Amino acid sequence: MSSNQFTQISPHYDDLMAGVPYGLWVEYVQALLKHVGFDGHNVLDAACGTGNVSELLAERGYGVVGVDISAGMIEAAKAKSGRVEYHVQDLAELDLGRQFDFAISLFDSLNYIIDVEHLAKAMIRVGEHVVEGGYFIFDVNTIYALAHHFFDQANLAPGRYPHYIWSSEYDHATRLCTVTMTFEVLENGETRQFKEVHTQRGHSLEELQQMLINAGFEVVDIFHAYRFRKPTRRSDRVFFVAKKVS
Ligand SMILES: C[S@@+](CC[C@H](N)C(=O)[O-])C[C@H]1O[C@@H](n2cnc3c(N)ncnc32)[C@H](O)[C@@H]1O
Repeated sequence: MSSNQFTQISPHYDDLMAGVPYGLWVEYVQALLKHVGFDGHNVLDAACGTGNVSELLAERGYGVVGVDISAGMIEAAKAKSGRVEYHVQDLAELDLGRQFDFAISLFDSLNYIIDVEHLAKAMIRVGEHVVEGGYFIFDVNTIYALAHHFFDQANLAPGRYPHYIWSSEYDHATRLCTVTMTFEVLENGETRQFKEVHTQRGHSLEELQQMLINAGFEVVDIFHAYRFRKPTRRSDRVFFVAKKVS
């Protein structure tokens, strides 16, 4: 991942995500599991960020381990309930020495793994951590979303920090979307500005499918996000439901 993403924003990430309906995502994941008739208890939250989903799953009685490559994000996660075990690890080097009933990776985390071989390794390492018959559920931003500048966003609402202006550039040849994010945060009553440059890759559904197969998964469903219908050409986010078969 590019050098400064998820560094300075880490302590402000939860304020940035204040409008995100994490509870509904957890319900969607649970609905997907029900849809495939699976009832797991132990879950790996791969690229858990500040643990927002991990914590909700723990509240609902799941045994949760969260892993993220960003030390700042994990520091914020560890300051939460204490019910979740968190680790700083790159998914491509994931090594927890145990297996889980299912793994999740939400909110376009896998788009942040922009090197295809790195992502293939991450899939294999996640696969090693899921029991046979278990599941890996994740979402990605589609190529359509990245190419159509869905990242061009701003919040300058008075008093509602962090303020931000994001501006994206998409390269059709590499499928890399580079987003220059300017933030203004409120710290100890003072405002402070900084920039992070985030890079996501638009992975094709076929690439992801092949990587999952290589990692011992069978792709059971691909859905338009938060629905139970097939993605269309214009879907901005899709969910994969993959079963560990070997
Ligand atoms: C948009 S955030 C989503 C975080 C969290 N899943 C959520 O829903 O709030 C993407 C996360 O992916 C993490 N990430 C990126 N590359 C990673 C890698 N190779 N291994 C582990 N985590 C990674 C980033 O540090 C960041 O926390």
